[in-house]
Amino acid sequence: MSVTILGIESSCDDTSASVIRDEVMLSNVIASQAVHEAYGGVVPELASRAHQQNIIPVVAEAIKRAGIDKTELSAIAFTRGPGLMGSLLVGTSFAKGLATSLGIPMIDINHLQAHVLAHFIKENEEDNHQPNFPFLCLLVSGGNSQIIVVKSYKEMEVIGQTIDDAAGEAFDKCAKVMGLGYPGGPVVNRLANEGNPKAFTFSKPHIPGYDYSFSGLKTSFLYTLRDRLKEEPDFIEKNKHDLCASLQSTVIDILMDKLRKAAKDLHISEVAVAGGVSANSGLRDAFQEHARKYGWKIHIPKFAFTTDNAAMVAMTGYYKYLDKDFCPMDVAPFSRVTI
Ligand code: KG4
Repeated sequence: MSVTILGIESSCDDTSASVIRDEVMLSNVIASQAVHEAYGGVVPELASRAHQQNIIPVVAEAIKRAGIDKTELSAIAFTRGPGLMGSLLVGTSFAKGLATSLGIPMIDINHLQAHVLAHFIKENEEDNHQPNFPFLCLLVSGGNSQIIVVKSYKEMEVIGQTIDDAAGEAFDKCAKVMGLGYPGGPVVNRLANEGNPKAFTFSKPHIPGYDYSFSGLKTSFLYTLRDRLKEEPDFIEKNKHDLCASLQSTVIDILMDKLRKAAKDLHISEVAVAGGVSANSGLRDAFQEHARKYGWKIHIPKFAFTTDNAAMVAMTGYYKYLDKDFCPMDVAPFSRVTI
C-alpha cells in the first residue's frame, strides 16, 4: 500500500506544505514573507503572524495540487526545530489539529536532517539521482555551516561546524554594511558574477579539524571598508562588484578547504551540498571543479530545494513513517537542536 505524507515547514520565514507519495513529490507550495525586507532581517513576531495567515491556504493548495483528498494522507510530518519558536508553534499546532481530526499519526522532523534528505526527493518515478551512503553533506544556510557524514536516512554525524557565524550570515552581514539589503547572499552572488575575485584579500581562519569560523572574515571585510572609505567616500559604490566577488570567493575557499580535507581523511568521494547558501553559483562551480579534479560524485540540489521547503520535511517523514517513528500529540517544538 502506498504511503502519502503531508509535510509542513514553518521554522523561519517561509510557510510551506508538500505532499509526497512513496518517494515521489506530488506538490510543494511555498509562501515567502516579503514583510521582513523593510527591517533588514527576519522579525520573529511578524513571521509567526504571517505563518498564521498563510498556513491554511498553503496546506489546502498543496493537497489540491497533489490531486488527492486529505483522507488519503497516511501521516503528517512537521518541522519541530531548530527555528524561531513562534514560527515553529504555528506549524506544530496546525499539524496537531489536522492529524487529530483525520485520526492519523504525527511525525516530528529535525529541520537540518530534512535539508540533508532533500537529496532523496523524486520529482517523478524515473528520477534516480539519489546519493549512496555514506556521503558527506556540506550544510550551509543562514544559521548553520556544518560538515555531516550521512551514514543512513537516520544516522548522521556532524564532524565539523561553525564556531561563530554561519556562511549565510557572513554574506548577509557583509551585504548589510554595503547597504545591499536583506537577504544579502543572493545580491552578493549577482554582483560577484561581474567582479574580480582577486581584487581584495580578506582573512581566512586557521582552526584545527573540520570546524569553520566566519567572524574573522566579517571583521576583515568591515575594516577594509572602514579604511578605504576614509580616503574615498564612494569606495563601496565604485568597487561593489569586486568586493562581492572577493568576499564570495573567500567564503567558498574556506568552505571547500575543510570539505576537501574531510573527504580525503575519511576516504569518501560522494559529496552533497544543502541549505540556502547552496544556491550560490560560485559554490556550485566549486563543486563541479572538485568533481573534475578529485573524482567526486557530487549532488547539488535544485534551487527549489535549497531554501526552506516542505518537500524535504515530507521526504524525511516518509522514511520515519516506514520505521513507525511517530511522536505523541503533546509534542513541543525545539528552537535549538542539532542533528
Ligand atoms: O536555508 P535558508 O533558506 O534559511 C536558513 O538559514 O534556515 O538559508 C538562507 C541563507 C541566507 O543567509 C541567504 O543570504 C543565503 O542563504 N543565500 C545565499 C544565496 N541564496 C541564499 N547565499 C549566497 N548566495 C546565494 N545565491
